[in-house]
Amino acid sequence: MATDVPADARLICALDHMAANPEMQRVREVAFAALHLAPGQRILDAGAGTGEVARWLATRLCDTGSIVALDASEAAIAAARARDEGTCVQYLRGDVTALDFPDHWFDAVRCERVLQHLAEPGRAVAELARVTRAGGRVCLVDTDWESVAVDGLPRPLVARVREHLLATVAGQHLDMGRTLRRRLHHAGLHDVTAVPVALYFPDPIAAAAVLPMVNPMVPAEAGLIPGDLREDWFGALSEAGERGDFLATLTMWVAAGTV
Ligand SMILES: C[S@@+](CC[C@H](N)C(=O)[O-])C[C@H]1O[C@@H](n2cnc3c(N)ncnc32)[C@H](O)[C@@H]1O
Repeated sequence: MATDVPADARLICALDHMAANPEMQRVREVAFAALHLAPGQRILDAGAGTGEVARWLATRLCDTGSIVALDASEAAIAAARARDEGTCVQYLRGDVTALDFPDHWFDAVRCERVLQHLAEPGRAVAELARVTRAGGRVCLVDTDWESVAVDGLPRPLVARVREHLLATVAGQHLDMGRTLRRRLHHAGLHDVTAVPVALYFPDPIAAAAVLPMVNPMVPAEAGLIPGDLREDWFGALSEAGERGDFLATLTMWVAAGTV
């Protein structure tokens, strides 16, 4: 994909690559099991992106009940609607920190890789708990960006890129994944479970689907890699890939609890 495409299109493309990645599918299976879903239920996917998971759930539940896929991005919701071929999923624009649903409306609620981007993640968790009925499950999925580890690259180069990344994305919650269990406890949920899922990428191409810092298609303007290191960094990645030396890991967390 060219690097001069609009941000909305890049987001949708990135979500598609992630959805197709077998390691992400493994995370989603863990989240599916944690939700204890049953046919006929009312389900919310908050921050649903292009609705891939919502439609997957619809298939899994034989298109019974109702599933709401909600997202703040008009472009994501438009893409989601365009992809739907007659499932029970309803697509809505909305804000996970101020949900326009009555209390206790849903049987089960999920929220994947959204909280890390929010200024007030605690408000979102409180909202997700509010709209879930007593006895219903809330499942949160998020990344622990500080867990990224690589092999096959020069360690000083990795250290410099890591230092830059930590400074650049300092406004985001890099540790969100490991905080999910605590956040569910604080929101008053019980029977809380937390599962760390270690994603393994055996080559740079597989890693690029989930790790933006190893994806050469992420434009330089995103600022993930220092301008003067970009050539060295992507050169080293490509050489490690050719040697078969590269690997990367990342931990994602799936935490769930009962309201
Ligand atoms: C990394 S994407 C994850 C999308 C989807 N959950 C998935 O796993 O493919 C983050 C999504 O959260 C959405 N988002 C960000 N802030 C939001 C908010 N306050 N309310 C609802 N959605 C939000 C973005 O538009 C984006 O689609």
